[in-house]
Amino acid sequence: MDKPIKYKLIHKDKNARSGIITTPHGEIKTPVFMPVGTQATVKTMTPEELEEITSQIILGNTYHLHLRPSDELIYELGGLHKFMNWNKPILTDSGGFQIFSLAGIRKIKEEGAYFSSHLDGSKRFISPEKSIEIQNNLGSDIMMVLDECPPGMSTKEYLVPSIDRTVRWAKRCIDANRNKDTQGLFCIVQGGIYKDLRDYCLDKLKEYDDDFSGYAIGGLAVGEPTDKMYEILEHITPKLPEDKPRYLMGVGEPLDMLEAVEHGVDMMDCVHPSRIGRHGTVFTKYGRLVIKNAKYSKDTRPLDVADNYVCRNYTRAYIRHLFKANEILGQRLATYHNLWFLLNLMNEARQAIEENRFKEFKEEFIKNYTQGEK
Ligand code: GUN
Repeated sequence: MDKPIKYKLIHKDKNARSGIITTPHGEIKTPVFMPVGTQATVKTMTPEELEEITSQIILGNTYHLHLRPSDELIYELGGLHKFMNWNKPILTDSGGFQIFSLAGIRKIKEEGAYFSSHLDGSKRFISPEKSIEIQNNLGSDIMMVLDECPPGMSTKEYLVPSIDRTVRWAKRCIDANRNKDTQGLFCIVQGGIYKDLRDYCLDKLKEYDDDFSGYAIGGLAVGEPTDKMYEILEHITPKLPEDKPRYLMGVGEPLDMLEAVEHGVDMMDCVHPSRIGRHGTVFTKYGRLVIKNAKYSKDTRPLDVADNYVCRNYTRAYIRHLFKANEILGQRLATYHNLWFLLNLMNEARQAIEENRFKEFKEEFIKNYTQGEK
């Protein structure tokens, strides 16, 4: 049986890698940023706009789509790609993270997680088998195992049994997948801020290496200090199998992304760029800019020195006005710009890797980005 997800390493510049992931819905050039489309939409963006800014793959969410409109309905209507009119690759998160960050009262047991819906408080249950059934119904190219994402500063005493369960759940996810030839499955390495626990988790997951299409690093950017996150990234990323994609979950700050790429991460996602965009904060070459500030009221420059649709056509003064007047177009333009910024950052990083100048590229980016907006 042919595997649904393949990875080809194109070039290495020290630990940083460029590569190509092949999926049933096309190729993905890595390193890549993946915009998040939690509820079968990347908020404010049409699929055409996503393509225009070079999105290669987007995320969908098991937890949200199961609760509304339901994965059965999406299955009946032909799957998530068709439902949302996105014909490129889709990755679905398993629901684990969302249960812990969104849902009400939850109880985690060997069989699965009990929680109440954030929509109506109804009592729900999700098991590894259920998570895979939902993801099979959605028809994503890449599915994630159901895991527990413990808080960033969890103790070792808490983490060891949690990791053991996450590994047992990963095995149950493998067995539950009814679409092995069309949907790949990524495992998730947990272990908090402890290097030995990260190794422990990875070693156990590697026993099922043949059944995983890729390896994710979970449980980072969840409240631990940045230096701890960087230590873990540096320690664990180079130990992940060379012949599979490596995915750092939930990271979307430019400096963190470059740090991750430097250590060999290939894929990242985060709601951060679109969320801060909707609230009027945008990335620029010289750091973040808060567009509502009074000082931009007569500023006729573009948001950033960037060659994209927003910067070619609109002034800071106009976008500020849109935000002050609560006009939807302001949120759309800021989201468009922020997603473009991270997609472009990864496109440039890939090129720098292929030209053996990633370190210089990263240093130059940091030098500008930390100057403060102009
Ligand atoms: N998103 C961000 N972090 C995580 C994680 O640890 N697990 C899952 N499933 N999703 C995430």
